[in-house]
Amino acid sequence: MDYDIAVIPGDGIGPEVIGETMKVLSATSKIFGFDLKFETLPYGAGYYLKHKEVLPSGALERLAGFKALLLGAVGDPRVPPGPLEQELLLALRFHFDQFLNLRPAQTYPNVPIPLGGNISIDIDVVRENTEDFYMGLGAPFSGSYTGDLAAGRGEYEFTSKVEIQVSPPRDCAFALGLLTQPAVERIAHRAFKLAEKRGENSLHVATKANALPQFYGLWDEWTAKTAKNYPNIKLKKINVDNLCYQLPRTPAEFGVILCPNLFGDIVSDLVSALTGGLGLAASGNIGDGLCMFEPVHGSAPDIAGTGRSNPLAAILSGAMLLEHIGQIPASSAVKQAVRDYLSGGQNFPYELGGETPFDQVGDLVTAKLMSQKYA
Ligand code: NAD
Ligand code: IPM
Ligand code: MN
Repeated sequence: MDYDIAVIPGDGIGPEVIGETMKVLSATSKIFGFDLKFETLPYGAGYYLKHKEVLPSGALERLAGFKALLLGAVGDPRVPPGPLEQELLLALRFHFDQFLNLRPAQTYPNVPIPLGGNISIDIDVVRENTEDFYMGLGAPFSGSYTGDLAAGRGEYEFTSKVEIQVSPPRDCAFALGLLTQPAVERIAHRAFKLAEKRGENSLHVATKANALPQFYGLWDEWTAKTAKNYPNIKLKKINVDNLCYQLPRTPAEFGVILCPNLFGDIVSDLVSALTGGLGLAASGNIGDGLCMFEPVHGSAPDIAGTGRSNPLAAILSGAMLLEHIGQIPASSAVKQAVRDYLSGGQNFPYELGGETPFDQVGDLVTAKLMSQKYA
């Protein structure tokens, strides 16, 4: 089997962690007898600064021809926040309608966790990935604003005419959030199905319907409707602020956590901290078209180039990619190799308390991969 895989290493530690991931994935494909044809694309801050555009025209259409996309991270101190995140990362999620952002996090042997002790945590954050306050609709204005706002998503177009006055005039900013019932229901179904697969008897849904009943109240209503299809799984509504309080206190009580886009982003960083760090947190952006696999973390400019990045989150995202393309035993082997490496308790990256530079970690995981017995 041959698979065309697009790779966008991106910025900062992105290329560091993706290089290690490609080492591990290439070794895996040799063991399991399939071919991963990587095509590395140069998009990110360097490309943007050179060409004055984030993506060339036709780039998204061309990406549609790949089996999957592996991404490192985007974001660079030379570029103000916004264009790379919105026109590259979010553009990919929206263009390909990758509505499910699946962010698994679990504790591993020998990985220090901030709570200390011997706690076992195994949480899947299910984040809606196309709506909420990520519509990109909004603007700064001074006193008044008049304009047309539009956004396209996989299954619909959103258009609006907005007229705002604030008097006496003052400098302002506004953002429009959007929730649509089909989008909330499809992500809720995914979360319930995952809870079923995990053998859970409950599922947490975290919103803020107390502060925004006219918005998140509808999310809660629609997810409660979906819940009727899953009588064996109890829907546990929780305010997202309370969730952030309860998670560090009783993390083992949580299994699948379903969130709207913005809260899901924030909760997944918290959950990653509780289980050992962003350098272990993998993710998949999944829909019916091209799917994208990337670590939860960003480009970490504070440590880029120092050797201190932990590539395990990217490597585990690579395992999610393998599962997605149907190479299930290969995916399991990568996850097992990461676990074996961590079980060894040695040669850890800086994030996990060691002094091993990132560019040895892929080799260490590959060595574990090679030493497994395969049928
Ligand atoms: P970040 O995730 O890049 O870093 C947060 C902290 O975690 C930093 O201290 C960093 O050093 C540490 N960290 C992250 N990944 C690590 C790893 N693999 N190993 C060891 N330590 C790691 O978040 P930030 O600082 O808020 O954002 C930096 C840039 O990345 C910004 O431009 C932001 O917009 C962008 N960003 C991009 C993505 C993405 O492309 N998916 C995700 C998040 C942030
Ligand atoms: C993530 C990131 C992005 C998000 C940013 C960079 C736009 O934080 O993938 O978690 O908010 O989704
Ligand atoms: Mn994030």
